[in-house]
Amino acid sequence: MTEAPDITASPEPPSYPMRRTCPYEVPDGYRELRERPAPGKVRLPSGKLAWAVTRYEDVKAMLGDNRFSSDLRHPGFPLLMDHQVPAPEFSTSLVGMDPPEHTLARRAVASDFTPRSVERLRPRVQEIVDEYVDRLMEGPRPADLVDAFANPVPLLVICELIGVPFDDRDFFLRISFTVMNATTPEAGARGMAELMGYMDKLVTDKEREPTDDVIGRLAARRGEPGVPDHRDLVAMAFMLLMAGHETPANIIGLGAMLLLDRPDLRKALRDDPSRWPAAIDELLRFFTIAEIGNSRVALADVELGGVRIGAGEGVLGLTVGANRDPERFPDPDVFDIDRVDRRHLAFGHGAHQCLGQHLVRIELEVALATLFARIPELRLAEPVEALRFKEEHVNYGLHALPVTW
Ligand code: HEM
Repeated sequence: MTEAPDITASPEPPSYPMRRTCPYEVPDGYRELRERPAPGKVRLPSGKLAWAVTRYEDVKAMLGDNRFSSDLRHPGFPLLMDHQVPAPEFSTSLVGMDPPEHTLARRAVASDFTPRSVERLRPRVQEIVDEYVDRLMEGPRPADLVDAFANPVPLLVICELIGVPFDDRDFFLRISFTVMNATTPEAGARGMAELMGYMDKLVTDKEREPTDDVIGRLAARRGEPGVPDHRDLVAMAFMLLMAGHETPANIIGLGAMLLLDRPDLRKALRDDPSRWPAAIDELLRFFTIAEIGNSRVALADVELGGVRIGAGEGVLGLTVGANRDPERFPDPDVFDIDRVDRRHLAFGHGAHQCLGQHLVRIELEVALATLFARIPELRLAEPVEALRFKEEHVNYGLHALPVTW
């Protein structure tokens, strides 16, 4: 057992986050950390140190161990910046909760996210995707696939999930984009106030007259164990929007880019569409877009991967590195649609493993399979080297993807 990390030998721990310089590669720093004899520490932008865990088995063990807490308000939690401490109203929305509260709260919504439940949404997802492919084809060429397709489709799927009435959708899309793309803190705060005001009204309406959607069903079950009260239901609607919009949008954009760059893969999927589900999981593994997530704080001294992590120390589960661990994935840097492996860590692992994962798989498959089936002549309007990526963001993705046909 190594008491102190190997890193003590080096003058300064590496900085985290690490930026990608190529969309198909992960930064060398992840490999360097993974190849050390034991986990070491990295320096966060806040100036604090946190343990960086990068081997597949270590990340899985860490995320599956309740001695590591998700409580973002804990002073040792490895926030990138100290001012990121979430407002109290968001602390109750699953992501930042620990057992036993988390177990109860997750159980209250889990039935809406099972493979069988989300399968019921497939026809509606197909309608949304078809509508946006129609719009794309009717619009000017070249078009930005991110703006015209990858962004709106997941947002409309969230509208279905949380039950945004049809007449409110244009407003909801506009205000969500304002919040997500605000260029000044003031614009962000104004947009956020408007969005939270809307969510509050949405929940109040559903409390008066329950509707057949995730929030409506929870509103009708008020008082049952784990079922959120009004304030927490507003926070949950907001959290589902935040967790469920940008991530699928990023994979749709990156997946379209990769397939447009690889005619051999497009042909393989066209010849045998039953390969799409495996291709989607391989896209999730290969890009592992949740750059910063899976962070925890140790509640007790824990031995992990050959080091002792002290109670109160922050730990980062670096799934970007773990999903390229050659001990777990043969030829990890090769994108292989025959890999047929769902045990990647792109959705995390353990109690907090992505609630939306079954829905996302449907969404991504319908979006990409429909796009390539309906526009077989689709092609990149700019080379991959000229594209702009979200290098500074919490989730990796494309700012824009110019395409033509
Ligand atoms: C490609 C798309 C997505 C990716 C890569 C992704 C990734 C993740 C990851 C890594 C976590 C675990 C975080 C942690 O343990 O700290 C997570 C949690 C979560 N995700 Fe996703 N997600 C995606 C889409 C979605 C969608 C569409 C929804 C909702 C409709 C969603 C809802 C959630 C929720 C509610 C949690 C928190 C679960 C809990 O704490 O119990 N996600 N996601």
